[in-house]
Amino acid sequence: GACTVLVDGAPCCACLVPIGQIEGAKITTVEGLADDGRLSRLQEAFLHYGAAQCGICTPGMLVAASALLAETPHPTKLQVEQALGGVLCRCTGYSKIVEAVMNATDFNGLPHETGRSDNVGAPIRRLDGVAKVDGTDIFGADSIPEDVVWVRVIRSPFPFADFSFGDLDKFVAERPHIDAVLTAADIPGKNCFGVIPPFADQPIFAEGTARFDGEAVAAIVGDKEALRAFDVKDFPVFWSPRSAMMTVADAVRPDADRLHETRDGNILVRGLVERGDADAG
Ligand code: FES
Repeated sequence: GACTVLVDGAPCCACLVPIGQIEGAKITTVEGLADDGRLSRLQEAFLHYGAAQCGICTPGMLVAASALLAETPHPTKLQVEQALGGVLCRCTGYSKIVEAVMNATDFNGLPHETGRSDNVGAPIRRLDGVAKVDGTDIFGADSIPEDVVWVRVIRSPFPFADFSFGDLDKFVAERPHIDAVLTAADIPGKNCFGVIPPFADQPIFAEGTARFDGEAVAAIVGDKEALRAFDVKDFPVFWSPRSAMMTVADAVRPDADRLHETRDGNILVRGLVERGDADAG
């Protein structure tokens, strides 16, 4: 839902609307919410309540909220939740967004009663917040340099399969518009990533075994058009499908294949959460 725009005032996911259907329609994006460079009350409220964090969902949230406020200037919490239900946010936990929308119409930029202390839990106006609410922030996909090479990723067509490659050097040598093939062998350091370091176990490219349908095993580097035209069936990879574990129960059976060397019993982590007297602490 981050791509939500207004089509003649109605919120729509831009990614689901064929361009031919909007001929003659009035389209409003997040860039259209400010008035001559002056942020709308809704945008100001987003800044004030800390409703824009990374900013990725923010255009969709703002646009969907502006449609709601046009009809219902003082919405209830439930109305806000329903109006924004199609836009997912991974950062805020939603309550700041809901708070911002509920208070937007009367928002005057002054501190509000949150019931929270002035320190812990108090909203902070982000230094980089304006660009997140007016649509000018630049994200990775917004600026692609000219004359770059492109990659096309080769992915597993099976949920669980061993694989091996044919002659990759020959494959590249025979194709003038392809510069290289990257595999796990090209990853410097540890071939793995993940948000929380001790849990990181996802390889950048699988090594010998693919663990899910769509897992990357290699990438072809080269000219964009050549990559677009390339038929992945011509890539020299040979698959041996294995019986996949499709449920948790499958994965923890004593005879289940181990998915990762270091994950005994296919368990990511074991542990306890302890709690005591927080006030005494
Ligand atoms: Fe990051 Fe919503 S602010 S996804």
